[in-house]
Amino acid sequence: MRLSPALAYGCHYSAPPLKHLLTFTLLRHHRPTHSTPLLPTTLLLSSQFPNPNFLTGNCPFFRMERFWAGSGINKNKAMVEHLKTYGVITSEKVAEAMEGIDRAFFVPDGNAPYYDSPMPIGYNATISAPHMHATCLQLLEENLQPGMHALDVGSGTGYLTACFALMVGPQGRVVGVEHIPELVSSSISNIQKSAAAPLLKEGSLSVHAGDGRLGWPEHAPYDAIHVGAAAPEIPQALIDQLKPGGRMVIPVGSIFQDLKVIDKNLDGSLSVRNETSVRYVPLTSRDVQLRGG
Ligand SMILES: C[S@@+](CC[C@H](N)C(=O)[O-])C[C@H]1O[C@@H](n2cnc3c(N)ncnc32)[C@H](O)[C@@H]1O
Repeated sequence: MRLSPALAYGCHYSAPPLKHLLTFTLLRHHRPTHSTPLLPTTLLLSSQFPNPNFLTGNCPFFRMERFWAGSGINKNKAMVEHLKTYGVITSEKVAEAMEGIDRAFFVPDGNAPYYDSPMPIGYNATISAPHMHATCLQLLEENLQPGMHALDVGSGTGYLTACFALMVGPQGRVVGVEHIPELVSSSISNIQKSAAAPLLKEGSLSVHAGDGRLGWPEHAPYDAIHVGAAAPEIPQALIDQLKPGGRMVIPVGSIFQDLKVIDKNLDGSLSVRNETSVRYVPLTSRDVQLRGG
């Protein structure tokens, strides 16, 4: 079946000279047998209008736009249902994790928490769009089994870190590393409001201030490593901290970025493939990020 084009939002890259550029990229889902319909919010940015109703606001995508942007009641479960309907979430385990961790605790006040778009969280950073979170959870699912170890580099709001923790459970270990201390503090507060709070309290989930390019050796090796910011190249420390049989998902590149899936084989060799094109903020030093460039 022919694949549908979709637009993936990683995170806004607000630093010059890219300020003027679009904060999304055109991509194709790479699973050959799986057709992914256009996501509602991204469809607005696509040049491929599905039918004449698109421009009138009467197509289902517009109705879902309004739905997702709504507020007043918890629509987290409905957001997950939509991601399932559109083929972004394909596993019950990922659905359960995203249903369990209410996004409203992680999105700053004043933003629509269930809207499928990245949102600013201060310090030139963003919380990634729900469909990017879902995509990364899907890619890492096999490596987020109960009892496994996971590292979330550039953990930002702590949303994905909390989802990881629900998936690996109390026998597992999840570490978030974020280089903006204020975001570390706010992410801990966010997690404390969420279903992952007991795991934080028990200590199987922790978030640390540090340079994520160095990983977090204390709890290595990791079955799963997620990097939430785009690296110019794959940091060697992260490769070293990946367990044989483990998987890393990392955006790599500057203006044009690929979401890379890196599997460490049992003999220590690496298999690398590009999942899709994305746009994330850079994995960089704190000073460079705070200067906005
Ligand atoms: C896209 S944002 C947050 C992503 C996070 N998954 C979320 O959705 O909340 C990327 C994060 O990476 C952080 N970051 C960038 N470079 C970093 C580095 N060298 N070490 C640790 N964190 C870094 C930024 O501060 C930012 O919070």
